Formats: sequence, structure tokens, C-alpha cells
Amino acid sequence: MPETRGKFITFEGIDGAGKSTHIATVADLLRGRGREVVSTREPGGTPLGEKLREMLLHEPMHLETEALLMFAARREHLARVIEPALARGAWVVCDRFSDASYAYQGGGRGLDKARLASLEHWVHGDLQPDLTFLFDLPPEAARGRMSRQGREPDKFEREETDFHARVRQAYLERAASAPRRIRVVNAARSLEEIRKMIEEIVETHCS
Ligand SMILES: Nc1ncnc2c1ncn2[C@@H]1O[C@H](COP(=O)(O)OP(=O)(O)OP(=O)(O)O)[C@@H](O)[C@H]1O
Ligand SMILES: [Mg+2]
Repeated sequence: MPETRGKFITFEGIDGAGKSTHIATVADLLRGRGREVVSTREPGGTPLGEKLREMLLHEPMHLETEALLMFAARREHLARVIEPALARGAWVVCDRFSDASYAYQGGGRGLDKARLASLEHWVHGDLQPDLTFLFDLPPEAARGRMSRQGREPDKFEREETDFHARVRQAYLERAASAPRRIRVVNAARSLEEIRKMIEEIVETHCS
């Protein structure tokens, strides 16, 4: 077993902000430096989690059911993928994690933050990402990017602009409460500018 645990890097932001685009960049950068990289996503990342993702993204449900299923999928993901990877020294890059629950179920749906905090404590006690990139973009711009992709929107993507504005706001509040961990990326900038900035942060924060 290696002496050092791997690092855990998460990508957050409203739908269409640019998370998936840049996860690949970071994974390539780290692999180029000889690291084992596990690239994964939430909700999902395990066979059971992917089934829960299908339900979460497509079936209407009570907001508390939604929050509980998100954290149930996360528990499975941590136990089967994230924790074992970090323990063997691999680096984990993950598309969304608990900040997304605060943003979507908290900010978007209005679920009490204390409820989310107790689930977070239950599911991942002291574990937090080492570094989080928050892709920040006005919802109108994100919607424009998604519509250019031309795929069928999921349950969250179909929510109105106000919902996404509340999600964005909750994300920014979360970033303000953890400024060392969460780096806000101005996602309106060019792909190249963003890539450079992210690479610099990963190099300095995680080398
Ligand atoms: N900085 C950028 N400038 C212009 N277009 C971008 C930028 N970043 C991403 N895009 C484009 O916007 C679209 C959405 O990007 P991406 O799929 O990475 O977003 P996402 O945050 O992963 O969205 P989702 O939450 O829906 O998965 C893609 O077509 C991507 O090429
Ligand atoms: Mg994506």
C-alpha cells in the first residue's frame, strides 16, 4: 500500500456550465504525471448508483426522497469506489458531490440545510474533497450551451430559470463558506483560459 492517500477533486456548477468538459483535462494532466486517476460522477459511479441516477433524473418524487436517494447513492459510491481508490493512492476526480446536494436540494428545492448537514455527517463524516472547482455561469448562458448540444433535458434541466438561479446562489454561498477548498471558476471565459487556470490550481494545490 502507498504511504500517501490520493486526493479527491470535485467539479460543481449548474447544468451546462462546463464541468464534464474540464474533468477530462484534469484527468489527463494527472495521468501525465504518473498518477492513477479514477474519473467518476454523481449521482452514480456504481451499478446501484447508476440505477438510482436514472430514477433521480427522470422520476418525480418528494424533495426529501430525492435528498435521501442522492445520499444513499453517495454512500455506495464512497464505500465501493471513492474510499478504496483514495486508500490505494489513486486520485479521484468526480463530477458533482455533496455541494450539489446543498445547491439543488437545498437552494433549488428549498430543503432545510440542517437536514442536509446531518445526512452529510452520516454519509461522509470528516471526509471532504481536497479541492473543488465551482463553474459559475448565469443560468441563461448555461441553458444556451445545453440547447446547442441538442439532447433531451432531464428533470433538473427542465426546471425554470429561477430554480437554476437559486442553485447558483446556493453554490456561491457554499463557496464563500469554504474558500480554501472551493475555487470559483468564471465559466463564461474561453475554454482555453479556463483550462490554463485549472491546470495551474491543480499543479500548485496538489503537487
Ligand atoms: N468555456 C466554455 N465556452 C464555450 N462553451 C463551453 C465552455 N465550457 C463548456 N462549453 C460547452 O457547453 C456545453 C456544456 O458543457 P459541459 O457538458 O461540460 O457542461 P456540464 O457542466 O458538464 O453540464 P451538465 O451538468 O449538463 O452535465 C458543451 O457543449 C461544451 O462544449
Ligand atoms: Mg456534465
